[in-house]
This record gives sequence, structure tokens and C-alpha cells, in this order.
Amino acid sequence: MLAVPGSSPRFLEKAQTLPVDEVFLDLEDAVAPLAKQEARKNIVGALREGDWTGKTRVVRVNDLTTQWTYRDVIEVVEGAGEFLDAIILPKVQDSTEVVWLDTLLTQIEKTMGMEVGRIGIEAQIENARGLVNVDTIAGSSKRLEALVFGPADFMASINMRTLVVGEQPPGYTEGDAYHYILMRLLMAARMHDLQVIDGPYLQIKDVEGYRRVARRAAALGFDGKWVLHPLQVEAANEVFSPSQEDYDRAELILEAYEYYTTVEKRGAAMLGDEMIDEASRKMALVVAAKGRAAGMRRTQRFTP
Ligand code: GLV
Ligand code: MG
Repeated sequence: MLAVPGSSPRFLEKAQTLPVDEVFLDLEDAVAPLAKQEARKNIVGALREGDWTGKTRVVRVNDLTTQWTYRDVIEVVEGAGEFLDAIILPKVQDSTEVVWLDTLLTQIEKTMGMEVGRIGIEAQIENARGLVNVDTIAGSSKRLEALVFGPADFMASINMRTLVVGEQPPGYTEGDAYHYILMRLLMAARMHDLQVIDGPYLQIKDVEGYRRVARRAAALGFDGKWVLHPLQVEAANEVFSPSQEDYDRAELILEAYEYYTTVEKRGAAMLGDEMIDEASRKMALVVAAKGRAAGMRRTQRFTP
């Protein structure tokens, strides 16, 4: 999920060429207050005229404590609603904020003669209140497609004593300071069948650091992570795809399980040294689905 500042025509151009699944064109923290109006125009133009083939097109508006949000939504959706897939609402603190955006989108869609309900919402969770309310936020609108973590704002809001987003705060050696937050988001997202996306890693040149932090979220079950720079794109695509070995194994389990349950009519069976059953099939499906989505090919076949 590539972050693109709406104030930069050059980045809006470049973003179209990068192999990412989603772009979000930013009106919020990557855009200075005095550049917001211009950024809205740039974004409408880039959505209408750009080639975003194969990418989910998203705009991040300003949060509801500012004066900008309503104009962000109205200008972008009236100007380019049919070229837009979703809106990210940042710093969401409770469900009423999502309901507000849902209602505004419905009114604009009706006014413009667009399909009502097509434009989705991603809720970004960036402070303690948002995290504590995350279950009701996640269930607050049919338009919701994803929960997105905002680690920089989050760390600031809880007074975590660190300046490096994604890394452990100095002095904390007992475990992973992010574990609770990531798990909390994951549970709320899965409860409501939403995707869940990890936020940015700001040390752009440290691609190994990016990989390490991305692996943590991918291992827990996150669906993706932000990238801020072309250098991070390859690492993200690699980390969020299964290894060839895991992908092969997952497809093998699915094939073997199908054979044992239908041909041999057995619910549990041995595959090499491993016992597989219905729960193994479900785990294998998760890995296989990610591999298929990434266009991976099998290099092994099952023989009974
Ligand atoms: C992103 O918005 C962040 O606050 O980390
Ligand atoms: Mg933020």
C-alpha cells in the first residue's frame, strides 16, 4: 500500500509505475496546511487522467478534528468519484466518525448519480481511544474494507518514549511493544471480515529494518503494510508472499487432504511425518490463497 503525497505531481506520476496493490493519495499528514487546496486538485486530476490499472485507488482525507475533512471528501468524490475505490479516514476515535463519512458519501453518490455504496472506507487507528473502541469502529459501516494502523501518531498519543517508528522503544527489553496493538487490530478486523494493514516504516534507507518489521506483521496475519518509497516495495511484496517452500507445502496439504477425505473417506491422514486434518486444511488455505494472489507456481505434486 503505497503512500503518495497529493501535493507532489512528480510522485503522483511515479506512483503509477510501481508494482503495488494499492495507492493512497494523501491529503493528510504528508501535505502542509497551505498546500491542501492545491493537493485536492492534483489528486482529482491524477485519478481522472492517470493509469492506475491493477491498483486499488484510495485517497486519505484529513481527520475529523480539522476543518478540512468535509471539503476533502466533497471535492475528491464529486471530482473523481468514479475513479476512486475507497477513502482512508485517519485518526478515527469512535464509530460515529465512520458513520458520518458513510452518510456524506451516500449523499454525494446520490447527487452525482453514482452507484450508492461502491466507495469503501478504511479506518486508520492512531490513538488510544481508537484502539479501545476498535470493535465498534470495525462494525460501524458496510463500506468498511480495512483497518489501518498508524504507528507514528499512535506512539505519540500514548507517550511511548521513542523516535523510531516500528522499532522497540529503547529500554524495553521484555518483548514486543507492538504486540498488543497489532493483535487487537487483527482481532477486530477478523471479527468483521476486514483486511488489516500495518503502517509506515520511516527509515527509508534501512530496507533490512523494513523487512524485519514487516515480517512481524505478516507473521501475525496482517494483509499488508505501507510503503513510502520504491526501495520498500520489493521487500513488502516479498515479505507478504509465502516462501516457495511454504506455498508448495500448503498446496500439497490441500491436495492430499482432498484425496484422503474423498477417495479414502478418512478425516485425518499422514502426509510425510505430519498428521493432517480439517484444521490443517484451513491453515493451508490461508497460505495457498496468499501464494495464488501473488501469482506463485507450484513446484511439487501430491502422489498417494
Ligand atoms: C501514519 O499515519 C502514522 O501515523 O504512522
Ligand atoms: Mg498518522
